[in-house]
Amino acid sequence: MELTSEELAILNGDEGKARQFAMEILVKVGESCNAKRLIPIDSVHLVLHAYKSAFTAGVEAAERIAEMGGRFTVPTTIDPCGMDTEDWRAARTPEDYAKMQIRLNNAVMKMGVIPVWTCTPYYGFNLPRFGENIAWSESSAVSFANTVCGARTNRQSAIIDICMGIIGKAPEMGLYLDENRKGEVLIQLNVGRPLKQWEYPALGFLLGKKLGSRIGVIDGMKGSPSQDNLKSLCAAAAASGSVALLHIVGITPEARSVEDAFSGNIPEETISVREEDLLNIRKEMNTHEGEEIDFVALGCPHYSINEMIRVRDILNGRKIHESVTMWIFANSYAIKLSEEMGIREELEKAGIIIRAETCMIISPLSEWGFKTIMTDSGKCTHYAPMECKTDIVFASTEECVESAVAGHVVMEV
Ligand code: F3S
Repeated sequence: MELTSEELAILNGDEGKARQFAMEILVKVGESCNAKRLIPIDSVHLVLHAYKSAFTAGVEAAERIAEMGGRFTVPTTIDPCGMDTEDWRAARTPEDYAKMQIRLNNAVMKMGVIPVWTCTPYYGFNLPRFGENIAWSESSAVSFANTVCGARTNRQSAIIDICMGIIGKAPEMGLYLDENRKGEVLIQLNVGRPLKQWEYPALGFLLGKKLGSRIGVIDGMKGSPSQDNLKSLCAAAAASGSVALLHIVGITPEARSVEDAFSGNIPEETISVREEDLLNIRKEMNTHEGEEIDFVALGCPHYSINEMIRVRDILNGRKIHESVTMWIFANSYAIKLSEEMGIREELEKAGIIIRAETCMIISPLSEWGFKTIMTDSGKCTHYAPMECKTDIVFASTEECVESAVAGHVVMEV
């Protein structure tokens, strides 16, 4: 890689050990991927966030970088915490686990992370713009940033993302380059009407399986999907496959037309998606056949304030059944708003618990012994059987709430 004189000085150790270490890592990554240079990035989003996935090695690595003097030089946000940040004891987090999580939190705080633990940093305090180079690691947020915002990032990984935050640069490769952002597969969405809420994550789940890491171009999206709809679509596609960028014609800034999205590429495949394909993938997503459920989990990715309001409205004053536990995961911004609006109080009166800045996948949920999770999330549907060892019922938000009230699975389709 060609390095500037400033970058060579950092590599030489002129700016301290932490920056030297971070530069060494970035140069190694860049050279192994044939990057020609480093480019400035405007923000970083970290995934060294939860003891459940960082383990002791990750905690110690973060502490060592912080002790060496590592400090972020660009705005750096972080994924959800590995435990409830308001009350980890009430969430049955084991003491030993909590101690390690607190060590990890302290290390990234020392480096200057913006302490809102969330996978939806784009809801408020880290919103990238069209064409901006960023370095994010959370797969659902990467997919959202590339697809919805038109920003540019690869799916970065833990520790390397810390190095990018310290240097404020990333090797120029992958989705930072125009030639790697062209559409590869045409997806003809033949539903003929705006999608229903549950169909967005179902479509994402289906596309993740079909595309793998290829770039799909969705033609035929009707209506005006909300940010929450697009968030759930992107998250599911990034989980069931490794989709980092979808061109949704008319929505993705680079995809004003199908021609724009392919930029001269010939589609290597055309996939038609009809209403029955979404119904079929929904059936495949469910691993549970009975009617009993013990846990309803919403907020993967973290729920927005609008989604919390929607749950309140669906409940319409009713309480959830005593046999069901229902949690909503959200970040501290959305929770604060819900408190000011009285929404949190209404949800809690109904029997719902708001879990702060963590989630069902990256916290030690096994302590609760849940057998079946019902969720409106395609991403949770993908990971829960592996990470939480539970069965899954995937459904619309409305069906999740109605089931929680009834105490058993209530499906409209
Ligand atoms: Fe976020 Fe956890 Fe889902 S990090 S995307 S809520 S698995």
